[in-house]
Parts: sequence; structure tokens; C-alpha cells
Amino acid sequence: LEARISSIGNNKSELETPALLIDLDLMNANIERMSAYFGGKHSTLRAHSKTHKSPYIAHKQISSGSRGVCVQKLGEAEVMVGSGVKDVLITNEVVDPRKLERLVALNNYADVKVAVDNLSVAKKISEIARIEGIKQGVLIEVDVRNRRCGRLPGRDTADFVKEIGNLSGIEFRGLMGYEGPFLDVTGFEARKSGASKLLGQLAETVEMVEKEGIHVEIVSAGSTGTYNIAGEYQGVTEVEAGSYVFMDSTYRKLDGLKFHCALTVLATVISRPIPERVIVDVGWKTIASELGPPEVKDVEGAKFYHQSEEHGLISVGSENRLSVGDKVELIPSHCCTTVNLHDNFYVTRKEKVEAIWPIAARGRSQ
Ligand SMILES: Cc1ncc(COP(=O)(O)O)c(C=O)c1O
Repeated sequence: LEARISSIGNNKSELETPALLIDLDLMNANIERMSAYFGGKHSTLRAHSKTHKSPYIAHKQISSGSRGVCVQKLGEAEVMVGSGVKDVLITNEVVDPRKLERLVALNNYADVKVAVDNLSVAKKISEIARIEGIKQGVLIEVDVRNRRCGRLPGRDTADFVKEIGNLSGIEFRGLMGYEGPFLDVTGFEARKSGASKLLGQLAETVEMVEKEGIHVEIVSAGSTGTYNIAGEYQGVTEVEAGSYVFMDSTYRKLDGLKFHCALTVLATVISRPIPERVIVDVGWKTIASELGPPEVKDVEGAKFYHQSEEHGLISVGSENRLSVGDKVELIPSHCCTTVNLHDNFYVTRKEKVEAIWPIAARGRSQ
């Protein structure tokens, strides 16, 4: 640890690798861009902290306008609440009774809401919350894509909301309808029309619930790919964008997303067996690959084409001068899962390491 701390103030190229780097100026610009977008809107950002798993970044987002944070897992919620975040939405179902006890207990320190789509789970939450003397806030997840968790849009959800209204340990706060990242829809207009259809299902469901005389305080939707579609959509109150803070090479392919790639994995060239092939010390264990290979930053003609656990293979032109011991930066194809492979962020400004931030909720998947 001491060796790592002593790297503060050094040039980033002196870091031992693989190392996960944040370019602070670029990340701050992303946070500011998002906050400028929501200035004066009817909706607000609730930044998804599953991307960075870091209280440092969560607090930066909150101080620039995010209404608390989203998390995907209870363990992440505990880390965020432990760091002083006061408003958390778990955008996922929690069902294990022991976890539900942890969830309810968190409400002693913060307003922690959870997604629900099942009556027996709702009853269990209510029972535990009553014993604790609190009301657990819930959002009903609506499956606007028919692919993941959630009640069906429309009548099914409206009936479910009425049913849980009888549970005294629960407070219905609203609906959540994550309409997906639309990563395969590059063009903005096509993305807008696809996402708007799904948001329309959510809006109709809100209307149906309100017709029953039940107030829907929160309507949560959206992602980085749809932040400025969900953020405009009538009735949506919160947008759950996460990746915008770092961006990645997959999101960068979408039109209209003017965020910067602020996250890279620093790698060392460990071999150059033939002039056309460079091998780096970054593979599956330090960079995510489920959305494809990373991009090599600022190396003309270099293409990352294959990886194994601890090796990355990059093709280069024979005139390329990279040699053993040199460092290169890789832009992940998926920032969120890459972050979860590392213990710390090395926070850099220009070429210098300015800070080291632990990734406190790394691996907190329970
Ligand atoms: C429930 C939920 N909300 C929001 C997001 C948006 O995240 P991002 O902005 O990183 O695409 C995701 C992504 O997986 C999600 O699962």
C-alpha cells in the first residue's frame, strides 16, 4: 500500500500495471455536462453508482445535482449509506429474508427505496419493517422491455400497486421502468423512437395507477444511452444514467452522446514476439470483454484483437515503436464491469497521479 501511496505526484507512466486510471478533468467534464442538461428540467438525475462503486464519485455527482444515487445491489447500498449518501434507490429486486432485514435496517440512516415485483416478497418486507417500526419505501418495477424483472405494464402493475397498498410496513413511492441502454441503436432518432414507445408504456401505467387514486411520486427510467430521451419524457421524474461518468468504447459509438472516455486501464508491453504483435499484461481478469475488445488509446493503427486471463494481444504495423516495458492505455468496451475487477482508481490529471480512490463497493454483490 505504501508503494501505491508514494505514486501520488508521480507520472502515471511510472505506475505498476495493470492499473485503472481516471482522467479527472474528463470525468468532471462529464459530470458537469450531465448536470447542465438537467438544470431547469422537470426531471432530475439519480446517477447510477453501479458504474463506479465509489463514494467519492457519488458525492461529486450529488453535489452537482444528482438526487442521491441508484445502486444495483444491497451491498452497494450499504457502502453508499455508510459514506453518508442520504437518498438511495436499489434498482433491483431483493428477496432473501436476511437481506430484507439489512435493507430495512439501512432506513435508520437514509431514505433507501427498493424495486419490488412480487407479492410474497412485499409481504415479507412489510412484516420486517413493521417490527422495526418503519415504512419501507418501494418502487414497483414495470417490465417495459419484457426481458428482465418487473410486472407487466398496465393493469397487472396497477392491480399490484393496489394490493401492496394494504401492507402497513410498506410505502409505495412510485414506478421504475428501465427501458434498456439501446446500445445497438446508434442513431439518435431511432433510439428516441424505440425508447419513447417503452416510456409510453410506463406513462400509461402511471396514469392507470393514478386513476385508482394512488399518487405516483417517483417515475424512474433511463440510462446513459437514453438520458436525454427519458429526461424529456412527460412524467418521468428521475433518470438512472450511470456510464456517462466514464463512458466506454461501446457507448462512444452511439450518436449524440458527447461524454468523454475518462476511464482507461494502463497496461505494460510484456513481449513483442514478432514485429506485428504486441502483448500487454491486461486480459480478462483486468478488463471486461463481454461487449468486445478494448480500444488502444492514442496508438495509430493498433488493434486489440485477442485476450486470455492475463494477456492482451494487439496488432500493430511493423513500423510501430512500442517495445517491452512501454505503457499503453486501453479504453474498456464496458466501464461498469471493468471497474469491478479493480481495487483502486488511480486518479490522474494531465500526466500526474493526483489521488488513489478505493473502489469501496467493488465485489459488493450480495
Ligand atoms: C436498472 C438499471 N438502470 C439504469 C441503468 C443504466 O446504466 P448505464 O447508464 O450505465 O447504461 C442500468 C444498466 O445496466 C440498469 O440495469
